[in-house]
Amino acid sequence: MIPSFSSDIVVNMYDVSTCRPVRRRAAPSLAVLPRLPGHTTGALCRLAQDLSRRTDLWGSRVRFARDTRYAVRVAASDDYEAWLLTWLPGQSTGLHDHGGSAGAFVVLEGVVREAVAVATPSGSPPRLVSRTLGPGRVRAFGEGYLHDVMNTGHRPAVSLHVYAPALETMRRFVLDEQGRLQVVSEERSGADW
Ligand SMILES: [Fe+2]
Repeated sequence: MIPSFSSDIVVNMYDVSTCRPVRRRAAPSLAVLPRLPGHTTGALCRLAQDLSRRTDLWGSRVRFARDTRYAVRVAASDDYEAWLLTWLPGQSTGLHDHGGSAGAFVVLEGVVREAVAVATPSGSPPRLVSRTLGPGRVRAFGEGYLHDVMNTGHRPAVSLHVYAPALETMRRFVLDEQGRLQVVSEERSGADW
């Protein structure tokens, strides 16, 4: 349960387990980030799990935004970057890819639904396969992965996302009337986030 809003960004900090305000913690030391031994989905999955326990990196960064999901980068190394995302009920990413990055994400609090575009035989539109993910569930993916993530629950959700290499571009898609994917925009690091 979060308090009512007085601005677009809720600036208080919340414990992800209780959604109660927490005290600010010391700034993290980037020298102690875990390593990523390769960009396999297994290694990315383990990295996301490791970072989910690193509350020194993200515990003080939890905020919720009224108008859109909230995202903040909480770690960066030569090999990867990690972002904390928060979601009020109904907030979503929309269908998107991750450029040339592989990645993984872990749900820290709440429930999200992920819809993944799955390729079908040549000429057929992709299928969207949905799954519901609760706390502790991890999804890892390679380059070319296309999905939509939404908080379909009734309470705020928090998740941690890893990208390797760091996210450089992200295309957004819609499904046209025939169910085919259409690119509607392309966003770039440094310009759009
Ligand atoms: Fe994504």
